Amino acid sequence: MDFELKTLTPARICTEKCDALIVLVSGESPTGSDAVSKMVALAIGAGDFESKAGKMLCAYRAPGIAATRVLFAGAGNGSAKNIRSAVHAAMVALKNTNARRVLLSLCALPQAGQEGVRAAVLACADAAYVYSTTKSRPAEQKLQRVVVAVSSLAASRAGFDKGVGLVKGLALTREWANRPANHATPTLLAQAARELGKLRKIKVEVLGPKEVAKLGMGSFMAVAQGSEEPLRFIVLRYDGGAKAEAPVVLIGKGITFDTGGISIKPAAEMDEMKYDMGGAASVLGTFRALAELQPALNVVGLIPACENMPDGRAIKPGDVVTSMSGQTIEILNTDAEGRLVLCDALTYAERFKPRAVVDIATLTGACVIALGGVRSGMFSSDDALAQALAAAGDSSLDLCWRMPLDDEYADGLKTHFADVANVAGRAGGAITAAKFLQRFAGKFAWAHLDIAGTAWKSGAAKGATGRPVPLLVDFLLGQVQPVRPAAKAPANKRPAKPASRTRA
Ligand code: BES
Ligand code: MN
Ligand code: ZN
Repeated sequence: MDFELKTLTPARICTEKCDALIVLVSGESPTGSDAVSKMVALAIGAGDFESKAGKMLCAYRAPGIAATRVLFAGAGNGSAKNIRSAVHAAMVALKNTNARRVLLSLCALPQAGQEGVRAAVLACADAAYVYSTTKSRPAEQKLQRVVVAVSSLAASRAGFDKGVGLVKGLALTREWANRPANHATPTLLAQAARELGKLRKIKVEVLGPKEVAKLGMGSFMAVAQGSEEPLRFIVLRYDGGAKAEAPVVLIGKGITFDTGGISIKPAAEMDEMKYDMGGAASVLGTFRALAELQPALNVVGLIPACENMPDGRAIKPGDVVTSMSGQTIEILNTDAEGRLVLCDALTYAERFKPRAVVDIATLTGACVIALGGVRSGMFSSDDALAQALAAAGDSSLDLCWRMPLDDEYADGLKTHFADVANVAGRAGGAITAAKFLQRFAGKFAWAHLDIAGTAWKSGAAKGATGRPVPLLVDFLLGQVQPVRPAAKAPANKRPAKPASRTRA
């Protein structure tokens, strides 16, 4: 889908030829003398339409309006959230028509701001998305072009550009997360990463079983040993900042299929465990967006990718393995495999002397019980980092919620047979998983996002959401250092803590 940003007057919106015109309406009845304003005022006066969020009214070949179809959509108070739902509803309504070129008018919402414009762009792409990779006859994607009309370019340009960059990232994340496990093996995931390596400022390196063994990643290898598919450890770099600037490291859980291993899962809905690489897909999508947005910072992406399968060679409950950190782990439940691949990636992250490390994982069913599909679980040992992530979630409408890390939650991980067990009891399962990870994240500011409830939707709307790419991108853009005057600022000074600054 192509996007363009334009300033248009209300009169020009009426004369612009297109297949569909979407007009967002907020606040009081419009008073303008153009055909669109008059029509909206008439409908509101007759009680047939309101600017309340969720209201919609459609017309076909309306007099005085050049667009074939017109959709008025109520955007309530004009908040980014209301804009998102109004645009989404209008675009879904257009999906079943022959409309190809859409004009989306935000002119009546001068308060929309950068976040509102971005929300509009994202909602368009979201509503138009269709998965087609493994269909023999892909559904035709009719909606092709959206012109976003605003009253001021200056107040919209940055938000629009961010939105268009994010759309590319979200599409990549959804695509890879949605692919079935036999079309998204660790090897194929690594190939997708290598493709990203062709983009500006991105470099990619892929390690295989031999290199991973040499690094001593005994915990990651233990999960992979029950599968015929060889593991991959993917390292991405986005070098947009000064060489000496410490990077932010993103780690994505890349279990391309999670059967549970010998602690095998029940059959019902097991297909959804193809989404267990949603964290990895979000890291790939974030890098895709970085390539578009080119911010001045350094980012490293780490993806431990493998399958979790039952097999003659698979790990058994009670097995003890040695992680890259040297800590021994008793694997009491082979289905708690995410933390086993992440812990070695956390240790690997130390070599980058990162300013912050954020891991993203479809880690626990318990997090789905705790927070449902609305907010991702967020855990952090660092208050500034936690605040920055929460703020990024709010501004991008990709919400998260901070969860506790009291040391008492780690009590259940004690065992007689190793330094730590990989599971505690059922109680507080999302938190005990985070406590396990925290043992491997002592050397840097660290946060963990449990996206088990937010990375995909189940049921009739089954599909990847692309979350938390918007949150991650806003967080990263907030990490760009304000440009200091060239005078005497030591170039290699490492910032002590990530801050919740907005972009300079
Ligand atoms: N990938 C799952 C978590 C998951 C389950 C995400 C359902 C979304 C929906 C993870 O590897 C897992 O199996 N976790 C176990 C942990 C338990 C054995 C301590 C779980 O949540 O049941
Ligand atoms: Mn599992
Ligand atoms: Zn899993």
